[in-house]
Amino acid sequence: MEALSIMLNHYHNDHIMFSALLTILITLLLVSVMKLYISKSQTVYLVNFSCLKPPDYCRVPIAGFLEHIRLFDFLDEDSVDFMSKIVSFSGQGNETYYPPSLFYIPPVPTDREAMEEVHMVLFPVFEDLLSKTNLEPRDIDVIIVNCSGFCPEPSLSSIIINKYKMREDVKSYTLTGMGCSASAIAVDMAKNILNTRRNSNAVVLSTEILSTGWYQGREKEKLIINCMFRMGSAAVLLSNKKALKNNSKYKLLFSLRTQTASDDKAYYSAMREEDSEGFTGVTVKKESLQAFAEAVRSHLVILGSSILPLVEKLRYALCVLRKCMIDKSTEIYVPDFKSVVQHFCFPTTGKPMLRKVGKELKLGEGDLEASLMTLHRFGNQSSSSLWYVLAYMEAKENVKKGDKVWQLGLGSGYKCISLLWECVGPIVGEAQTGPWADCISRYPVVPSSSM
Ligand SMILES: *[C@@H]1O[C@H](CO)[C@@H](O)[C@H](O)[C@H]1NC(C)=O
Ligand SMILES: *[C@@H]1O[C@H](CO)[C@@H](O)[C@H](O)[C@H]1NC(C)=O
Ligand SMILES: *[C@@H]1O[C@H](CO)[C@@H](O)[C@H](O)[C@H]1NC(C)=O
Ligand SMILES: *[C@@H]1O[C@H](CO)[C@@H](O)[C@H](O)[C@H]1NC(C)=O
Ligand SMILES: *[C@@H]1O[C@H](CO)[C@@H](O)[C@H](O)[C@H]1NC(C)=O
Repeated sequence: MEALSIMLNHYHNDHIMFSALLTILITLLLVSVMKLYISKSQTVYLVNFSCLKPPDYCRVPIAGFLEHIRLFDFLDEDSVDFMSKIVSFSGQGNETYYPPSLFYIPPVPTDREAMEEVHMVLFPVFEDLLSKTNLEPRDIDVIIVNCSGFCPEPSLSSIIINKYKMREDVKSYTLTGMGCSASAIAVDMAKNILNTRRNSNAVVLSTEILSTGWYQGREKEKLIINCMFRMGSAAVLLSNKKALKNNSKYKLLFSLRTQTASDDKAYYSAMREEDSEGFTGVTVKKESLQAFAEAVRSHLVILGSSILPLVEKLRYALCVLRKCMIDKSTEIYVPDFKSVVQHFCFPTTGKPMLRKVGKELKLGEGDLEASLMTLHRFGNQSSSSLWYVLAYMEAKENVKKGDKVWQLGLGSGYKCISLLWECVGPIVGEAQTGPWADCISRYPVVPSSSM
């Protein structure tokens, strides 16, 4: 006891490392308890999913975009130069998509246009998902729609329910304002709902409506948003029906959410980041990246202690111990996630962030390929990006039965959410359907600007 208190006194300066160690120990304990609980709850399957392939007339070649913005009289030379730089360095290619409202000169960011965009992005993916899975709208028990920027009344989920005449007892939810991590949050939410309802189907619809978000002014920070976001949406069917077990693509092994928004530093730096040039790759604010890295790191510690084999956990714990007690300069050991996970889906939040996460996890360029190519082909689609990334891997026929897929969602604030899937069915023929159908053979490409 005395030894312990001396130790505590001695290391009170190192309370950060000490609390990290404590966190790991507590987490290990919690996870063991959670595992007991999880083994009792029902398995959730990802039966199939669809990603929107927007119509060709919505395509935005970079040269076209630049010509277009030069015609806006609310922009001056300086703003146009700035936007050109952002777009050229963003990692996007010539085939991303904008909703029709943004093709007007000037753009028409009205609610009516936004509603048309909602129909355009949500109806086709929902219908495609139903036809892929041979379901009728009345077979859906739970529907969750996520769209952060546009929040109409009646809600987005009501729009779907009305259009498809779904059942009266369908449970519907609309999530807003949760940023890029939202579609992963929606899956986590669906999982929790399914755990309370046997034999049910849940659909998650995820998108970002761009029509209302267009900024008409010259503040650089806000112009970035105009440059980066592109059209996209995804629909995902989750189920705990036994009958669908042999007819699914993935099984949800684990989901984890962490939040750092109670920490002012993370909260405000996330806000500042939304307003900085940070996520575009022009310059990156140091403190934002640092708060971001800390959020990711603490998420990874908890995730690692849950999914990694014992050997990796011990290595990590030993390294933290060593850093606390013996040698402060010891590099923190980053657990080897590649020993468990074969495929990594990261949000397409721009190259600097992707590279940072990759470095943090000691991943190779190959592990980031799907995320970088999604950014190139479809741009930043916010929450639905994770599904385009997974669709890329499937189209490349890289995902094999038994493989583990990790989807990491990151949102402002910072929120981190991880979904760990195990592939349960053979995945074949996806190169002929889905959003990558006409272009998968052209990828990977080397983006024209490499940063
Ligand atoms: C877009 O197309 C132009 C003209 O064809 C080409 O010069 C440019 O490299 C392309 N950009 C990207 C990122 O592919
Ligand atoms: C849905 O996703 C979008 C874009 O990814 C995000 O901005 C939005 O906040 C999310 N909507 C909700 C309801 O969380
Ligand atoms: C699923 O497949 C397994 C073996 O592949 C079989 O034993 C089981 O009966 C099947 N279950 C259903 C519901 O079809
Ligand atoms: C998912 O949908 C695709 C396209 O319709 C289909 O080829 C595939 O077999 C489906 N996968 C499963 C597991 O049902
Ligand atoms: C992409 O969208 C997300 C979601 O809002 C945002 O946090 C991120 O910074 C964006 N990335 C880029 C490159 O603009």
